[in-house]
Amino acid sequence: MDRYAVIGHPIAHSKSPQIHAAFARQTAQDISYEAILAPLDGFVATVQAFRAAGGRGMNVTVPFKLEAFALADRHTPRARAAGAVNTLAFGADGILGDNTDGAGLVRDLTVNLGCALQGRRVLLLGAGGAARGAILPLLGERPAVLAIANRTMAKAEELVRAFAADVGETRLSASSFAALAGQSFDVIINATAASLSDDVPPLPPGLYADGALAYDMMYGRGDTAFMAAARTDGAARVADGLGMLVEQAAESFTLWRGIRPDSRAVLAELRRQID
Ligand code: ATR
Repeated sequence: MDRYAVIGHPIAHSKSPQIHAAFARQTAQDISYEAILAPLDGFVATVQAFRAAGGRGMNVTVPFKLEAFALADRHTPRARAAGAVNTLAFGADGILGDNTDGAGLVRDLTVNLGCALQGRRVLLLGAGGAARGAILPLLGERPAVLAIANRTMAKAEELVRAFAADVGETRLSASSFAALAGQSFDVIINATAASLSDDVPPLPPGLYADGALAYDMMYGRGDTAFMAAARTDGAARVADGLGMLVEQAAESFTLWRGIRPDSRAVLAELRRQID
């Protein structure tokens, strides 16, 4: 039986073991998947011990995604673009680092929510690790506009510079929240950490175009603060990040096992448990 695990600190809350167990059942893959708590100063040693014990791959969560990037011998282009790794695959030729978060977001938006991004106006809120990981996969969908707005504008400008070579036809821009006034968007994605403290980015009113979707990378029971604010401000549809969680897991599973699980059934089951 091939062994996999998610590593983080804290880790007890992680839904990844349940998600991957469901994927394994569906696809008849004979694997185990556990949750491993690493000491804050013991990430590398914990990974090496798991690998030495026969582990084949790991998911990596807070706060170790940058250390996982440093540990990997090789990186996928999307991991390099994100500057962070959430998926490790152990092979004879070393450790491959991937990042499936942005692909999970895009798949949730385009497949689960049926929201095509090509030619649309997309606003990404935040300029931290979560936002950075989303940019290359979002650009791959060829939106007309990808605007990045952040409390600290310099960080949004830095991201625009970093992805200048990847923009294609998309107009990629940076702004403060206040400077968004008067614009409108088809999709607004909250990648700030504001929801963690029940806070919302201070957006000017009227940013949601007709039929627009508000998407929060966070999730929980009921609406997040961002989703509630978006409804009030006229978003036609709102979604939380539970689908992104399941889809990033499906991407990792596909990388490891070469077979894509049916993520929608697993998402529906998780949703039932949360609500
Ligand atoms: P993560 O890995 O979750 O992205 P991070 O790298 O610490 O975490 O980034 C947090 C992001 O949330 C940043 O964009 C941060 O804005 P600043 O760059 O100005 O710090 C944003 N953020 C955190 N709390 C916020 C709040 N209350 N309102 C608006 N933005 C917030």
